[in-house]
Amino acid sequence: MSNPIRPHRNFYGRLKGKHLKDSQKGYLEEDLAALSPGAVDWNVNPERENLDLEVLFGGNDTWLEVGFGGGEHVIHQAASNPDVGIIGCEPYINGVAMLLGKVRQASVDNLRIYPGDVRDMFDVLPDASISKAFLLYPDPWPKARHHRRRFVTPEHLEPLRRVLKTGAEFRVATDIPDYVRQTLEEVPPAGFELVTQGGDAWDDWISTRYEQKALREGRTPHYLTFRKL
Ligand SMILES: C[S@@+](CC[C@H](N)C(=O)[O-])C[C@H]1O[C@@H](n2cnc3c(N)ncnc32)[C@H](O)[C@@H]1O
Repeated sequence: MSNPIRPHRNFYGRLKGKHLKDSQKGYLEEDLAALSPGAVDWNVNPERENLDLEVLFGGNDTWLEVGFGGGEHVIHQAASNPDVGIIGCEPYINGVAMLLGKVRQASVDNLRIYPGDVRDMFDVLPDASISKAFLLYPDPWPKARHHRRRFVTPEHLEPLRRVLKTGAEFRVATDIPDYVRQTLEEVPPAGFELVTQGGDAWDDWISTRYEQKALREGRTPHYLTFRKL
């Protein structure tokens, strides 16, 4: 059978920021490979074969965090839920290095890190394999002509829907009112029902770097919970 054709996927965010500290370079060199969820990148998995989540997490539920930034939330969830396997995706390598520093402190063993684009991860996740997904402070893309770059568009929501189990929770946090608008417009038609929305965070919430920045700058967090139909 011939390999699937690699789709063209623009990534508009940052892949690398300021200089990495030597300690962070060490985490990337020494720790990242052992935390790999398996073959995700196109160059190592051109057939787009599914990851074996049974092997990865011993049959436990699997959760997914999209764009974990510095990793505050994903490490908190991993430490609080040892019976769940969590995959975090983040293409910004400085953020990945920050999370690796936290993993050393927390010594969790149920977290796997993909240092890349979640769309490539979606390709290799089995259908109906994820029981909870987090999208926390996604890039806002404030200009109207950039709204199609937002995560809450069919390019991302369709594969997200495919990999979520029926009844799975999909959490979105944002400080941008127009992002709330687009989330409410686009997520339900993609096969989700709105469960709650408002200013109260989830009981198991821990604030992220971007939320702290938003609060400092006077913006108000908004939390939305959807369920996959
Ligand atoms: C505004 S930051 C928020 C980071 C973190 N969730 C927080 O609350 O502090 C958005 C993050 O999403 C990541 N991101 C953007 N597009 C992505 C994609 N296609 N796949 C995975 N992560 C992505 C960016 O690299 C960035 O780190």
